[in-house]
This record gives sequence, structure tokens and C-alpha cells, in this order.
Amino acid sequence: MYTQAVILSALVAITEARFGQEQVPIPAIQALSNFGSSGQAATLAGQSISFLLAAANPCGKLQQADLIVSTLGTDAQVIAAARGLAGAEQNFNPFVVSVPSICSDPTLPTTAALRGVVPLVDPSVTGSDVENANAATSLTTPFTADGLSVAEVMVAQGFSNFTTKALDGTVGAASGSSASASVAVSSASIVASSVSQAVEATSSASVVACGGVASTTFVTMTRSASSTSASVAAEAAASTASVFASGTVASSAAAASGAARAASSDAVAGVFPGFVASTISGLDFGQCVPTMKFEAGLDGRADTESTFQAIDPIVNKGQEEALNPNIITNRICDQLTNVCGANAAAKTACTAAKAQISALATKDATTADAWNTALGFAGTNTNPDNAPQTGLVGHD
Ligand SMILES: *[C@@H]1O[C@H](CO)[C@@H](O)[C@H](O)[C@H]1NC(C)=O
Repeated sequence: MYTQAVILSALVAITEARFGQEQVPIPAIQALSNFGSSGQAATLAGQSISFLLAAANPCGKLQQADLIVSTLGTDAQVIAAARGLAGAEQNFNPFVVSVPSICSDPTLPTTAALRGVVPLVDPSVTGSDVENANAATSLTTPFTADGLSVAEVMVAQGFSNFTTKALDGTVGAASGSSASASVAVSSASIVASSVSQAVEATSSASVVACGGVASTTFVTMTRSASSTSASVAAEAAASTASVFASGTVASSAAAASGAARAASSDAVAGVFPGFVASTISGLDFGQCVPTMKFEAGLDGRADTESTFQAIDPIVNKGQEEALNPNIITNRICDQLTNVCGANAAAKTACTAAKAQISALATKDATTADAWNTALGFAGTNTNPDNAPQTGLVGHD
């Protein structure tokens, strides 16, 4: 418990550094220690941090708020803390997307006392003044939400500058016109071209680049690593939180077995085609797939600039894409120990493959192929996000 408390307070500090103290709902959850059984409030507080990070599904935050109430009860203090989580701002990487992602599931949250609460959004987003005033109001006076998703409540109250995400990962546009701009991306069989079409539709419907992103919104919507300059603190939190989640508190929530991990798609982490095991006998990479991609336009780069990145969102979390493949191979091998739970044979193979890639000294798709093949993942699609194929050679 001591270690858990120390990790939690470190995470809260990092998260606060990014969001500003007043927006962080974690201490209020942590303070519910008089409710439930010993340690439950602290566990819920620790789990809740991950739902504020850019890579999280926004519906997960609402489920977590429900979980707080179902675990700790309906005392006014519990409800207030759970509303605080439902109404908290979720980080997004401004170099990847320019607007927030909001839950489109009309059944969430399921707790009546939590319905009609709408979240804060980043103050840099156009229209945030309206939304942030609504969010503050909704904590004490929730809006009418009968049959409505949080996204629909927000639109009804005058803010629609966001994209939506369903519990299964389906991406859509605000205002319920999701028919042309959505596609399920979480099923085991992702069709790359339809993902790309959906992104295009979403992009034209409601994603407008801001700041330095300029013309690359389309290519960066479903992929790209997080950027160092954008939100170092949030990334540190992301990286630490994943260690934390797999290690201490959230083991019941995290998939214990790699085989259970379905395909996913995320604005930050990109398309993950789902878990596959190594074809090399004896290599167990735990819950991870240690493969590498080589794509143009990652992290706001130009369509003519290709760089390397791990494909698996657990592996690429907190790591920027890189032109130098050795940075990525090194990160992948580190993650095998840090978060994946790989066996010793897999770690040894990773170290050997790292040396192989370093000796090759190439920087193109064949480099990624060589890496994937060396670890027993020959034939892996090194462009799972369906990036434009104009940047097949890396540029400095
Ligand atoms: C949404 O917010 C972004 C980022 O601030 C801005 O560039 C864009 O113009 C906004 N879109 C609408 C429709 O207000």
C-alpha cells in the first residue's frame, strides 16, 4: 500500500502539472476513504488517472464514474467526486487533433445522479468558454439527459466542436450526424481503407487544424505518436500510468492475456490490428505485439516524411516516433520488461534483433520488415494506418 500511495501521489502531481489543479478530480476520489472498504477509494483514484489521458476512450471515464458510485455508495460526497471525474477534461495531443473526443454512448453514465454532467475542454478549443461554463454548472445542476449521450447533451447546450467516440471505438462527428462519418474500428477485422475513409469524413466534418498542425489533420487523425514538445507531463503520466496499471492497481481492468486484446484505433496510438503471437517457438511477448511500423506523416510530419514507431499502443505509449529505428527498437525492448510481461527468451531475442537493426543501418520499410521478421512477425503490415505512400524513404 505504501508503494501504491507514493506512485499515486506522483501521478497526481504530474497530472496536475498538465491540467491545472482545479481540473483534476483525483484528490476528491482519493478523499473518499471513509466509504467502501479499506483501499478501495485509493484504488479507484489510481485507476481514474488513466481516463484523463489522451489515449483513453472518453466512455471509459463515464464507466469509471459509475464504478466509483457502485463501489463506494451514493453519499453526496461520493456523487460529487464521481461527477468531478465525469466532468473532468481529458487531455488530447494538440499536434494530432485540434478538438476533444467525447463519448457518444447514450447509456453512459448509467448512474442517474451522474447523467447530464458535461466535461471541461481545453481552453484553446474554439467554443470552450461556452462548454466550460456549462461544465461548471452541470456539476451541481446537471442538464437534461434523458436518452442522450454526453456528446448529445453538449450539443444541446451549445458546444459541438468535438469528435465523438463510442464505447467500441467507433469515431463520429458531433451533432448526431454520425452516419457518414463513422466506422467501427474496434472489431478484430479492421479494413484499412474504410478506416481511412472514416477519418477523412470526420476530418471534413469537424476537425479543423489549429496552431502548427496546418494541413496534416487528415493524416494525423488516427495515428502518430505523442509529441514531446506538446505535453511532456501528460506523456510522463501516460508512460508511468501504464506501468502503474499493469503492475499494482488496475490489473483486474487491464487484459491479463495478450490473446484477449482486440484490434483498436486511437488518435494518438494509431491502428492496432489486434494481438498475434510470435511464430517463433518459445518467444512469449506477454500482452504485447513488439512489431514496428514505418509511415509518413506521423506526429504531424509531412506526408513525404516517414518515421518508425511501434504499432502496439501499449508499446508506443509515451514514445515519440523517430527516424532513427534504433530509438524505437530500444523502446520496444524496454517495454517488454516494463509493461508487457515478456519471457526471458523474448527479451533475449529483442536484444539480438536490436543489434541486427543497428548493423543494417537502413531507414526504410525493409528495416521494419527485418525487425518484425526477426521476432517472429514476418509479413506484418508496416503501414497499418494506411498512410500516404509518398514518403517511403526517411528524411532527416
Ligand atoms: C474548433 O476548434 C478548433 C481549435 O481551436 C478551431 O480551429 C476550429 O475553428 C473550431 N471549429 C469550429 C467549427 O468552431
